Amino acid sequence: MDIFILAIESSCDDTAAAVLKNDKVLANLVASQSVHQKHGGIVPELASRAHMQHIVMVVDKALKQAGVKKNQLHAIAFTRGPGLIGSLLVGGMFAKGMALALDIPLIEVNHMQAHVLAHFIKDEAQPSSMQFPKLPFICLTVSGGHTQIVLVRDFLDMEVVGETNDDAAGEAFDKSAKLLGFPYPGGPFIDKYAQSGNPKAFKFGEPIVEGLNFSFSGLKTSILYFLQKKQKEDKDFIQNNLNDLCASIQYSIIKILMKKLDKAAKQFKVKDVAISGGVSANSGLRKSLAETGENSGWNVFIPKFEYCTDNASMIGIAGYYKFLKKDFAGQDISPVARYEIGSTR
Ligand code: KG4
Ligand code: ZN
Repeated sequence: MDIFILAIESSCDDTAAAVLKNDKVLANLVASQSVHQKHGGIVPELASRAHMQHIVMVVDKALKQAGVKKNQLHAIAFTRGPGLIGSLLVGGMFAKGMALALDIPLIEVNHMQAHVLAHFIKDEAQPSSMQFPKLPFICLTVSGGHTQIVLVRDFLDMEVVGETNDDAAGEAFDKSAKLLGFPYPGGPFIDKYAQSGNPKAFKFGEPIVEGLNFSFSGLKTSILYFLQKKQKEDKDFIQNNLNDLCASIQYSIIKILMKKLDKAAKQFKVKDVAISGGVSANSGLRKSLAETGENSGWNVFIPKFEYCTDNASMIGIAGYYKFLKKDFAGQDISPVARYEIGSTR
């Protein structure tokens, strides 16, 4: 029997809905919120209000695009956490209401687990030769809110073996970009300008962190002091060195990430290595992963761009695996701002 799942993602600033037929995406929609741009970061209250404005339209469009009627759905999956509590509430309440009205199961999904499972999404456009990671594998999830190394033993059996002690990798990109004068989120700007710069032009402090954990706050401070010093000598220092600054900052962040990813792959003796999350869109990180993979004999995996950043298809694929295990949630389920992978309810 084919399983049709409607998935809803509203953990941060994008309202997303997807419809899946088993593990295959039929529709994947995202309504982005432009309201935050002028504030230089996400304003939680504005995010929840924008979710309320978008959610009905996004879900309706996803169902229409998929050619699936509401009464054909077998379950509704939604992001329970981690994320902004007000944003999570909007998606969660909508999912609950719809599941109740249609009298179908409700499935709660951990957003971070879903980023990892994005690697197993199938869609119309994929070549039939497409390869998927083999279990067990290591996944580096790098987004605006998280930086985690996850050991994936099975679709629903994964463990966080390393994470950041302070800022996330995406935050390191965004905060550095802000220092250079780029609008939020600045990660993609650093990527763009870095392509014409010299990654070895400037050197920033490298953190010393035990094990598989990360730290990015020292890098941000080191960049700040460096820029302040240089701007005293030349007030146009940033403008005159923008490409080199972007390339050097990007290089520093990637170096920190790749060092720990390499360590994790060796420690757990895995050859299948994946990345996910918004920062995996970074061209330097993709290149570095491919090169390290080539040298270390890894099979490397990077999801398609639309499945790297926040999306509802990843919630749908997680929902599909949970559906197969009949892992359903009750109407008493509530969203959680902090939600560790593998934690029990
Ligand atoms: O996964 P995501 O879409 O949302 C969160 O769950 O946070 O990740 C967003 C993050 C932002 O910090 C953004 O600057 C970063 O991903 N990002 C990039 C690039 N594209 C998105 N960072 C560096 N280079 C990029 N090309
Ligand atoms: Zn995310």
